[in-house]
Amino acid sequence: MPTLNLPFLGHGADYNPDQWRDRPDILEEDVRLMKLAGCNLMSVGIFSWTALEPEEGRYDFDWLEAVLDRLHGAGVSVFLATPSGARPAWMSQKYPEVLRVRADGLRNFHGERHNHCFTSPVYRGFVGRMNAALAGRFGHHPAVVGWHISNEYSGECHCELCQAAFRDFLKAEYGTLDALNAAWWTGFWSKTYTDWSQLRSPSPMGEGALHGLNLAWQRFCTRQTADFIRAEAAPLRRLTPDLPVTTNLMELFGQLNYFELAKELDFASYDSYPAWHTASDEWIADVAAFNYDLMRCLKQRPFALMESTPSQVNWQSVCKLKKPGMHLLSCMQALAHGADTIQYFQWRKSRGGSEKFHGAVVDHVGHEHTRTFRDVAQVGDALKKLDGVRGTMPRVDVALICDTENRWAVEDCQGPRRNLGYIPTVLEHYRALSRRGVNIDVIDSTCDFSGYRLIAAPMLYMLRPGVAGRLDAFVRNGGVLVCTAMTGRADRDDLCFLGGFPGPLRDTLGVWIEEVDALADGETQSVAFDGVEYTCSTLCDLIHAGTARVLGAYASDFYAGRPCVTRNDLGDGAAYYIATRPDADFLDAFYRAAFERAGIASLVGGLPRGVQVTRRGDALFAMNFSGGPCTVTLPEGVDALTGERVGGETPLGLYGVRVVRLP
Ligand code: GAL
Repeated sequence: MPTLNLPFLGHGADYNPDQWRDRPDILEEDVRLMKLAGCNLMSVGIFSWTALEPEEGRYDFDWLEAVLDRLHGAGVSVFLATPSGARPAWMSQKYPEVLRVRADGLRNFHGERHNHCFTSPVYRGFVGRMNAALAGRFGHHPAVVGWHISNEYSGECHCELCQAAFRDFLKAEYGTLDALNAAWWTGFWSKTYTDWSQLRSPSPMGEGALHGLNLAWQRFCTRQTADFIRAEAAPLRRLTPDLPVTTNLMELFGQLNYFELAKELDFASYDSYPAWHTASDEWIADVAAFNYDLMRCLKQRPFALMESTPSQVNWQSVCKLKKPGMHLLSCMQALAHGADTIQYFQWRKSRGGSEKFHGAVVDHVGHEHTRTFRDVAQVGDALKKLDGVRGTMPRVDVALICDTENRWAVEDCQGPRRNLGYIPTVLEHYRALSRRGVNIDVIDSTCDFSGYRLIAAPMLYMLRPGVAGRLDAFVRNGGVLVCTAMTGRADRDDLCFLGGFPGPLRDTLGVWIEEVDALADGETQSVAFDGVEYTCSTLCDLIHAGTARVLGAYASDFYAGRPCVTRNDLGDGAAYYIATRPDADFLDAFYRAAFERAGIASLVGGLPRGVQVTRRGDALFAMNFSGGPCTVTLPEGVDALTGERVGGETPLGLYGVRVVRLP
């Protein structure tokens, strides 16, 4: 199977020359500027449908051919896009079935983008013909190195075509209505279905409180999007079997299960827009790193950073400029976590349209004498020096489970409080793990657990079939497992486990969760652990330690003295339970102990707050997001960016980065 396998680290942007077809001077100038900025890779034509097919069945590809020729002549490669992310008005007007229908049954008007039905045979037909035509004409163009299909797949459609497809999906999933009714516990409130035709998608006008239905619908939306991707890619794969196919994914996106979607892609690519300088950069950097680790794990391969901004975006409530140094630092962060390309949205600022004030490599002024352009050129220069990391992966002992299906279930949960905070909890654990100075994989509960020494699985409320058994085997074989409040409550259809929580993980964790107290926002309790009192929030499971050893106890309210932190030694490993959502200081202390138990060493000793380290290939990246200068203790080696010998106590300036090539 083809994959991302460029002969260089990619550097470039979304390039939208169709907006400038009446300005050949600008198109020429683009090429000069690309060379100056050290750019070698452009994503071309992402929203170009009206330019490519101005009227039904009449393709106009000559302008695109001229663009590809010009880029190739300048040594710039291309991810060629398929334009399905937005359609021409003529299509919506003549074939309204291509337009999405909302959950309340209303069909959208033409407009915006990402506004199409994934099931519509008419839309699939148009996309298939367009993609076949593009592949036929340009699939063997020497500039083209991969397919960028559509753009940020998202959303759902509730039209009658989708309802019929949903029913087919349910028949395949459950086989019989009896099985479906049992799995969804439909006897409650007389919801029993007696005919398949009674089933519809969740809607504010109808059924919204049947958790099994809600989960099935979300699974269907992922399945239908994946099916659409397969259909989009089919002509490309047929005509250009050697070109890899990707689509750009979004950060911390919960609507679609990316681990499922990624099965349709040859490599993962990702649009990263951290809101630098709008809050603590240290925290923003942790979230960015988390997303990169997730993207790398989707295919367990290097990914493309398909979009990022070279300066500011235009859609945050306040769009801060990147402060000097942040551009290089943030690009190095993506590289450190497994990106093989650094690309921006977009190459040149549009004159009009909703994103005309979004950062771009070339500003409206049109020349290279801008801070942003110099920052981009600096990254181009750095990437040339760092080519050695291309294609390499980090060695990883630690995995964090962030499971999208579990997220759907937790976010749909009614009780014991609203807003259980699954994603914030996962991120808190990511941060505590990252502070130990190690590489981290972000996986879901269907991924392979072998090969890790420690797996953190915060709030794994839903245990899909087989997951508990695999976690148990992981522990017995010597792994260290960390679980937290609200673990092991329900199966894949959100049916509660009988016989005591955490359900099938009860023996593994050696605890029984009898009750759970919910805390209001801002309310805290205390936990005593290793002689220190910490605070905790959100949820307090009241547990009984069976075979587990008690390592920490609640220190407040009526449950003071009851176990809160436990460890169950099992086989060659250990399973920890943290019965609440503890503060960051607790997690630091806790993971220090858990890492010792797992025999995991940090990449560097004594990491200052706000400094991230990762190792990729033979390069150790040390990145300063602390907001001030600091000193870090590095191993002996050569700084690949500056050529200096480094080692021992090394100063890192504000937003500084060192990439130490280890011998
Ligand atoms: C992305 C999108 C791009 C552009 C960008 C602006 O989500 O794929 O087309 O809109 O945001 O930040």
